[in-house]
Amino acid sequence: MAYGEGVDVVSTQTKAVIIDEAKRIVGRALIDTGANVVLAAEHAFDKALESARLEDDEVEYVIGTGYGRYRVTFGNAQVTEISCHGRGASHMFPGTRTVVDMGGQDTKAIRVGPAGEILDFCMNDKCAADTGRFHGAAAAALSIPLGDLGATALRSTKTVRISTTCTVFAESEVLAWLGKGKKIEDILWGVHQSIAMRSAGLVRRVGVEEQVTFTGGVTKNAAMIKALEEKLGTRLNVGPDSHFMGALGAALFALDHIASSRAPHDGAAREVKA
Ligand SMILES: Nc1ncnc2c1ncn2[C@@H]1O[C@H](COP(=O)(O)OP(=O)(O)OP(=O)(O)O)[C@@H](O)[C@H]1O
Ligand SMILES: [Mg+2]
Repeated sequence: MAYGEGVDVVSTQTKAVIIDEAKRIVGRALIDTGANVVLAAEHAFDKALESARLEDDEVEYVIGTGYGRYRVTFGNAQVTEISCHGRGASHMFPGTRTVVDMGGQDTKAIRVGPAGEILDFCMNDKCAADTGRFHGAAAAALSIPLGDLGATALRSTKTVRISTTCTVFAESEVLAWLGKGKKIEDILWGVHQSIAMRSAGLVRRVGVEEQVTFTGGVTKNAAMIKALEEKLGTRLNVGPDSHFMGALGAALFALDHIASSRAPHDGAAREVKA
């Protein structure tokens, strides 16, 4: 059996996914990236091997993705995050034409073709206001664990409109509303609505073509799914492995390489396509 692995080394959480020849996920790992990107990649790789019960020499080809992809020192090749999210999303949800990736650092909108090929993309690269970090600032201000944010916001009955678009000011605005007697759930729903509104604007720049697949760590937040679905006017594809989409895409590219290196040689040079 041949195994391919993808390691997604990014700002917040490093993800690793191992797939088998049938493109099934057999191992995965998720760790906080921390200050040492090289170590994070190695650690995620080892944890994914452990969860798949495999030895490292059983994994034939490894592709690094994410901004730290060149720091995956044991990787055989690198593919960009955009290509990997597109590929992973199309594999998991074959009807995907639009991908929204919301991570800790940035939000990306990607338009893909039927095979997951990238047609267009757009991202909010300069500011963390529409990302998980904005959530994190609000959660910290309200002393709510990140994992409870979504469920708390979904209890809202009356939205509090959040006017700031800046992560740095989010905390003080949240506290100001709390001081005025507003309920935590209403403030939080307002936070989700404001992020969803700006993210929907980003997605419209590449065009909202159905089906829309949501990827990244923020897919764990049910309130964000609901808010984004409302603003985009469509359902979002989300699955339990959506946080791993970039690493899954990288693992699929790794498997492509394994398959092409085994195919009867026709004399043509082959490259990992991204
Ligand atoms: N259980 C959870 N509930 C709610 N939000 C979560 C949960 N787990 C992770 N997140 C959110 O996901 C974010 C991390 O997402 P992800 O791992 O996709 O980011 P990243 O890929 O490291 O960063 P980027 O792609 O932006 O460079 C966190 O900042 C957090 O807001
Ligand atoms: Mg990411």
